[in-house]
Amino acid sequence: MRRTVIAGNWKMNKDLTEAIKLISEIKGNLDSKPENIDVIIFPPYISLETASALIKGFSIKLGAQNMHQESSGAFTAEISASMLKSVGCEYVILGHSERRSIFGETDELINIKLKKAFSEDLKPVFCIGETLEQREAGTMQSVIKNQVLKGLSGIPESDIKNLIIAYEPVWAIGTGKTATPEQAEEVHLFIRNLISDLYSNETAENIIIQYGGSVKPSNAESLLTQPNIDGALIGGACLTADSFIAVINTVV
Ligand code: PGA
Repeated sequence: MRRTVIAGNWKMNKDLTEAIKLISEIKGNLDSKPENIDVIIFPPYISLETASALIKGFSIKLGAQNMHQESSGAFTAEISASMLKSVGCEYVILGHSERRSIFGETDELINIKLKKAFSEDLKPVFCIGETLEQREAGTMQSVIKNQVLKGLSGIPESDIKNLIIAYEPVWAIGTGKTATPEQAEEVHLFIRNLISDLYSNETAENIIIQYGGSVKPSNAESLLTQPNIDGALIGGACLTADSFIAVINTVV
């Protein structure tokens, strides 16, 4: 039985005061969360240390939205895996489509970052997804396969138990357009089969594959009840406690 993982990717939203307010509101509403759900928040770097202190004793986990692949050095403005660990992060998002398209992150770089995260005991949320042009051109499966093969190249099966994959069709991110539950389920099954081919059936059965892209309270239930959708990576709808909690409450 796979757990359901509901995660909030705050992106570049909320200053420290706003972050404290949002976390307090989430905490205040989380009491009745079922045991089989993991909740993870991904605030901006500047709020991580405070967030870590605020969630102590609550069943909320913490992650960062990115990290640099080197351990330390002359990389102005960058943040290392060990720095994230030192402020209480357990997770890190890698390969988000905004990092790929706006900041030029390649599959090869994301592969190096994934290896670094595993070596430092951070659990990566590895994002993949096709653009609208790729979907319309009929290349969705080859795009996804390429991202998985390149991203996970050289990563041993023993690390995969600490990996979450997030399928986020680029055309659904921040657009209000969601993949239908059937469209998302088709890709999730395709990804699970890829993991089975690359590693083993057991690893494929156990891996968490989240869906992301305009998840909100009104569409969460139909997505999360699909057999191969194990959670949601939420952008816009995680920025208020009401809608984040409402998504969590759709999981039964
Ligand atoms: P969205 O973002 O929910 O605002 O579409 C999801 C994401 O980018 O992780």
